[in-house]
Amino acid sequence: MYQFTYYAPTEVIFGADSILKTESLIKKYGGKKVLLLYGGGSVRSSGLLNHLEEILEAESIPYVELGGVVPNPRLSLVYRGIDLCREEHVDFILAIGGGSVIDSAKAIGYGLANDGDVWDFYEHTRQAKAGFPVGVILTIAAAGSEMSWGSVITKEEGQVKRAYDDDLARPKFAILDPGLTQSLSAYQTSCGCTDILMHTMERYFTVESTMEITDNIAEALMRTVIKNALVLQRDPGNYAARAELMWAGSLSHNGLTGCGNGGSDFSTHMLEHEIGGMFDVAHGAGLSALWGSWARYVYLSCLPRFERFAVQVMGVGAGYSPEKTALKGIEAVEMFFRAIHMPTSLSELGVFPTEEQLAQLAHMCSIAAGGTMGTAKKLKEGDMLAIYQMAVQ
Ligand code: NZQ
Ligand code: ZN
Repeated sequence: MYQFTYYAPTEVIFGADSILKTESLIKKYGGKKVLLLYGGGSVRSSGLLNHLEEILEAESIPYVELGGVVPNPRLSLVYRGIDLCREEHVDFILAIGGGSVIDSAKAIGYGLANDGDVWDFYEHTRQAKAGFPVGVILTIAAAGSEMSWGSVITKEEGQVKRAYDDDLARPKFAILDPGLTQSLSAYQTSCGCTDILMHTMERYFTVESTMEITDNIAEALMRTVIKNALVLQRDPGNYAARAELMWAGSLSHNGLTGCGNGGSDFSTHMLEHEIGGMFDVAHGAGLSALWGSWARYVYLSCLPRFERFAVQVMGVGAGYSPEKTALKGIEAVEMFFRAIHMPTSLSELGVFPTEEQLAQLAHMCSIAAGGTMGTAKKLKEGDMLAIYQMAVQ
């Protein structure tokens, strides 16, 4: 067991009609003028944005709006947000959407609270010294950004997608109403389920020692995500299943499922971020397209964990060798991805990189990783290239 700090300061308000608490939460965290930040239109068509405008107007809380955040959110919009907030003297950002909107809100906040170019943080050439208050109304269970320290932004020039992690960015509050996710497409729902599952899997596959309580929490979370993702295939409007997934999404990436474990892997995420930067794919679909290739490349280096995962999470029965059990677990995950219509290769994802692009992806990934990455198996640039090549089929 390793020492750990568990820091999850975000106030969570969960359940139907929880958006009615928005105004009191903004006031509680000192907001006097608010930026309403949102994406490409779903919050307008669902009526959510209108409802929030009415709530703020009824309480005489002034606000300005900025829409247009896209998946794989862009740095240019972050700069626009920083300028707008300075001009309008905004002191609180309300992110209404998913990971892309929340991450943009965090990035705008870094820009407002610190001098210099905000991209420096994402390039890891310096650390932020101060944070800016951000609240969240979540509309998709997926990235876990509503409670996480992460923020992932894409710089258009060079198509570079980079993450910056800092506790300063953890949102003040997160309003989680599962009903808000009922308007999601089947595809975005499945992308979200994949991402939630992966955030715990990335923490689970390690060769270091772990804690029994953390393993049990992680396994229960993964089983719950798989079960309820399949429920939504049959019954997309199922509120109870959406509630399970929404809470799983927050818990899967707020640190809970890694407490006391040695290291976390996050190689599939690192590999995916390069694919997302170059080909602009949905994050969850990029993860499922790569995971099987990563798993087959590393499983012998982390065999006890893959074996335990196969039995405890994927329900693989007794009577096989450890290697066979591990492989059956990997196959079962891929069957699950297919059952929720997620790709298990880059070609199924609709991405057909040339050899030159594969080499570039591996090179960029190794730069982002600082040379090596992974705890299930340490990966260098040549390993990253081999995994991308395996994932092409
Ligand atoms: O833009 P709108 O019209 O709102 O449509 C969005 C978007 O097209 C749509 N959507 C969201 N809620 C909806 C809805 N459509 C209908 N009804 C609703 N209720 O869904 C699409 C995807 O939204 P996005 O915010 O991109 O999804 P997600 O939450 O999966 O976020 C993905 C981003 O988060 C990053 C990813 O890399 C990616 O850029 N991540 C952030 C992390 C973090 N901050 O801790 C960790 C993750 O591993 C991840 O890397
Ligand atoms: Zn993710």
